[in-house]
Amino acid sequence: MADPGERAKRAGEERSAPARRRAHTTSHDLERYADLFARRTQVMRSSAMRDLMAITARPEVISLAGGLPDTSSFPPESFAAQMTRIAHESSAEALQYGPTEGFAETKACIVSVMEAEGMSPDPDDLIVTSGGQQAIDLIAKTLVDPGDPVICEAPTYPGAVPTFCSYEADVIQITTDDDGMRIDELTEVLARLAREGRRPKFIYSVPSFQNPAGVTLSAERRRRLVELAREHEVLVCEDNPYGLLRYDGEPQPTLYSLDGGDYVIYLGTLSKILSPGIRIGWVVAPPPVLEKIGLGKQAADLCTSTLTQYFVREYFAEGRWREYVDDLVEIYRSRRDVMLEALERHFPPQAEWTRPGGGLFVWATLPDYIDTTDLLAKALRENVAFVPGRAAYVDGRGAASMRLNFSGSGEDELREGVRRIGRVVSEQVELYETITREQLLGDEGEDGEEDTGGDVVPMRPRKRSP
Ligand SMILES: Cc1ncc(COP(=O)(O)O)c(C=O)c1O
Repeated sequence: MADPGERAKRAGEERSAPARRRAHTTSHDLERYADLFARRTQVMRSSAMRDLMAITARPEVISLAGGLPDTSSFPPESFAAQMTRIAHESSAEALQYGPTEGFAETKACIVSVMEAEGMSPDPDDLIVTSGGQQAIDLIAKTLVDPGDPVICEAPTYPGAVPTFCSYEADVIQITTDDDGMRIDELTEVLARLAREGRRPKFIYSVPSFQNPAGVTLSAERRRRLVELAREHEVLVCEDNPYGLLRYDGEPQPTLYSLDGGDYVIYLGTLSKILSPGIRIGWVVAPPPVLEKIGLGKQAADLCTSTLTQYFVREYFAEGRWREYVDDLVEIYRSRRDVMLEALERHFPPQAEWTRPGGGLFVWATLPDYIDTTDLLAKALRENVAFVPGRAAYVDGRGAASMRLNFSGSGEDELREGVRRIGRVVSEQVELYETITREQLLGDEGEDGEEDTGGDVVPMRPRKRSP
């Protein structure tokens, strides 16, 4: 029998074999499988955040890239007590398969979360999903054939982009401003599609504290959006992970409550108000649509984790879930303010950014000669990360923007992270100004004109979003 040292060595060699193979993949190896891939794999895109997660896991990197909630603020003793109770009282059930649509007890917890935002869905209209991400995937799987129009915001949730692409949707993005999706542009797009005889499968919107832009759809636009959905008989997918994470202002009515659930499909998640690790989200949809979504879920994963549904049940039974959301609101409000102060201090005057009233993200836009995908490589050398703006578009727009997360880092880290990004941005701005100035001087020299000094470089005026 081999000694333990020898066994460990051999195991190590076995483990590293796939990694070695990956490192030596040749075009010949790729060709061997190429004919097997479904056509849709050609349009599948990687999620920028997922790619970045591997790099940003390094402890020396300050990541403003993820959308990570602060799970360290969840009391470990509470977690331990709930899991112990489950082990003692419901071990067999918690380790068993569960119904595809989710347990009635989980649905009751979810209904109480929706009630906190003024909605009262029928639990039968609701399916528990493996995170909100699965709900987006199931909706696209249920509704989208290749080439079907899907409308969403510009920028949109970067995690939805790979989903829409993998179902080969024809994604049409509607510009957003400080009041969310521009309804005038949406009206035109809907009219154009109607003239072309194309019915969009749905309008995907994150109306409150949007990921990535941090903006919120105004009350008036919410009403118009719901009216347009009715006029055109188009479904709206309201994705609302952040509605309860509000730091300023008054809550807006959800699209679901304005519509009553005829044309609005509602997506929620416990990821940002409890834990993303438990993978509990949900979808509320009109019964015929929900039935198809349920069939899609059966094929995808049979059921959402039974164990984490039991955890949710125990946690909500304690009756303190709102208090924890209030704690998170305090933490995040303060982090948002730290980030906004740091941006003011360290970003050059040519940059502009949003001032979110809630949620987890600030969206910063730099002068358009800066490409944030290139800038990220420079930032990573300074051990700091953000999501480049292009990830939030299907059409290559967003190159000068970046998404900055303020929930997943402590206040000192936020200041330092923004300082480092500010430095690489300022370097780019200075470089551009130097080159442009030299070019201008060169041109003027050729024309024989007088040197007008250093401040002739045309720059966009400083403008800050409210
Ligand atoms: C708008 C939006 N939808 C859906 C999700 C997915 O969340 P989860 O799958 O963790 O519930 C996120 C996560 O960041 C999000 O921001």
